[in-house]
Amino acid sequence: MMIPTIETGRLWLRPFTPQDAPTMHQILNGPDVLKYFPGPQTVTETQVERMIGRLLAHWQEHGCGLWAVEQRTTGALLGRCGLQRITETNEVEIDFILDPASWGQGLATEAGQASLKFGFEQLNLAEVVGIVHPENLASQRVLQKLGMQFTAATEYFGMAVHRYVITQPNFANQTVEK
Ligand SMILES: CC(C)(COP(=O)(O)OP(=O)(O)OC[C@H]1O[C@@H](n2cnc3c(N)ncnc32)[C@H](O)[C@@H]1OP(=O)(O)O)[C@@H](O)C(=O)NCCC(=O)NCCS
Repeated sequence: MMIPTIETGRLWLRPFTPQDAPTMHQILNGPDVLKYFPGPQTVTETQVERMIGRLLAHWQEHGCGLWAVEQRTTGALLGRCGLQRITETNEVEIDFILDPASWGQGLATEAGQASLKFGFEQLNLAEVVGIVHPENLASQRVLQKLGMQFTAATEYFGMAVHRYVITQPNFANQTVEK
């Protein structure tokens, strides 16, 4: 499939390219960026190149995936956001990672809102989940601002997590500007 590009107030959600690897490498190695992810807290540029390859393949395999998040005014790559299928549970989860320099401006919420709109209106998904480390309060706050509801403290992939969900009707009935 052609990976779509989406425009929001301040961002482009656009397909990743191999040229994004050096900047994405810097972002992922920024302070606290991988704090709540399992595994090593640093990544090599080769690993980032492979990650981009996997993200592009995910779109072809599942019809959804992560976009590169680009600031419209500067063209700067800020991170990644989008929807991924969790094959183990057959759920679709929302994901976001942004450059620490851009945190606290509502950009993850803006990118997340556009991702949900795409998932519900273009892909006709029934629901989207958020799977987050129990101590990752910033991420949980973003999920809450997106209208997602906490469902359970549970386990995914052997890790303790908090699970959030939003259904298509709940998204459609939100009063916030879409
Ligand atoms: C999670 C992340 C994407 C949020 O990006 P962001 O652009 O700063 O998010 P927003 O500005 O849209 O919203 C952040 C909210 O969290 C709140 N917040 C930030 N740090 C917080 C903390 N330590 N405790 C509680 N709330 C916090 C902010 O105040 C804001 O809420 P508000 O609008 O009600 O004030 C960003 O922090 C990030 O990339 N983190 C590292 C990667 C990661 O953990 N991704 C999530 C994996 S599930």
